[in-house]
Amino acid sequence: MTLEKIKIEAEKEIKKAKDLKELDEIFRKYLGKKGEITQVFNSLRNLKPQERKKVGKEANLLKELIERLVREKSESLKRELADSKLKKERIDVTRPGKKREFGHLHPLTLVKREVEEIFQSMGFSVVEGPEVETEWYNFDALNIPKDHPARDMWDTFWLQGNQKIPNPKSQIPNKSKKLNFESQKLLLRTHTSPVQIRYMETHNPPLRIIVPGIAFRHEATDPTHEFQFAQVEGLMVGKNICAAHFKGIFEEFLTRFFKTRVEVRLRPSFFPFTEPSFEVDIKRGEMDWLELMGAGMVHPNVFRACGYNIGDWQGFAFGFGLERLAMIKYKIGDIRMFRENDLRFLKQF
Ligand code: FA5
Repeated sequence: MTLEKIKIEAEKEIKKAKDLKELDEIFRKYLGKKGEITQVFNSLRNLKPQERKKVGKEANLLKELIERLVREKSESLKRELADSKLKKERIDVTRPGKKREFGHLHPLTLVKREVEEIFQSMGFSVVEGPEVETEWYNFDALNIPKDHPARDMWDTFWLQGNQKIPNPKSQIPNKSKKLNFESQKLLLRTHTSPVQIRYMETHNPPLRIIVPGIAFRHEATDPTHEFQFAQVEGLMVGKNICAAHFKGIFEEFLTRFFKTRVEVRLRPSFFPFTEPSFEVDIKRGEMDWLELMGAGMVHPNVFRACGYNIGDWQGFAFGFGLERLAMIKYKIGDIRMFRENDLRFLKQF
């Protein structure tokens, strides 16, 4: 092939090259080890000196031309590549953004925190206790003897297995050094009241506590009953504490919690661990009366079980359902919605 032909071919091919790989192949076709121009250089030595000089010069010029054209084409191909990449990756700032989903607290957690804050501001400490309890703490120490009909008020989930605990009667009232151990049946606590006992065993009055926690009962569910629900226990013990203190503190709590007036109704009731005992119902706006809690003045037998000198102290105790409080606050008609994990419900809080 003459140099003139090579030039025309090469110029055409370089111009048509679609990408860097093809361009590289073209470069090697002409200037590689066995490339056409390289071959021209290799054959120079077979030419006469005069001819050699002329062809050599022309071949050199052509080599330089092809190198330049390849370089220019390579730059333009790279530019095109960058341009198309930019076009592809362009961000359209006018498009609507993606909505981020934020998690949030469960309505029961919100209500629990609010309850804790209000009682803490009135000098109550927040205390917790175990969900797996012994028969002693859940019943006996609360003046609910075995085989007493009052025990039927709490349908109990009994657990297999026993736990050995120091015989409660041997450590109280005079905390004798020698403790007998006795075997206790285990259960899921049916209320948060056992924490009253645990706290009074280890703390001296005066005291004010609330105990938020889960309780379990072997009962059928309906719009106001669950077999697992949250209670908040309250206990205040001091000198000359009377039912008026309970009423005052609880009304203050309700006013702050609901931020509007709610109607409160006390009904005489019976709990083995309080005397007198009452049931507290509340009503907000159009809603029906809803039983919120049990309460009363701490029974002397409970003080006795905790080793307190019964003449010295008085106290009130109460236990309300946290779900019931949330139902009244947010006007929720069915308690079972709290644990169904239906996002349409949960997202409203
Ligand atoms: C008790 O559990 C007593 N321990 C309360 C108490 C404490 C009385 C201290 C006196 C002194 P009762 O079984 O009534 O009482 O339950 C108290 C509250 O828990 C009820 O008023 C209700 O709000 C809530 N509650 C009871 N059972 C359920 C249930 N199955 N589902 C949802 N909430 C319940």
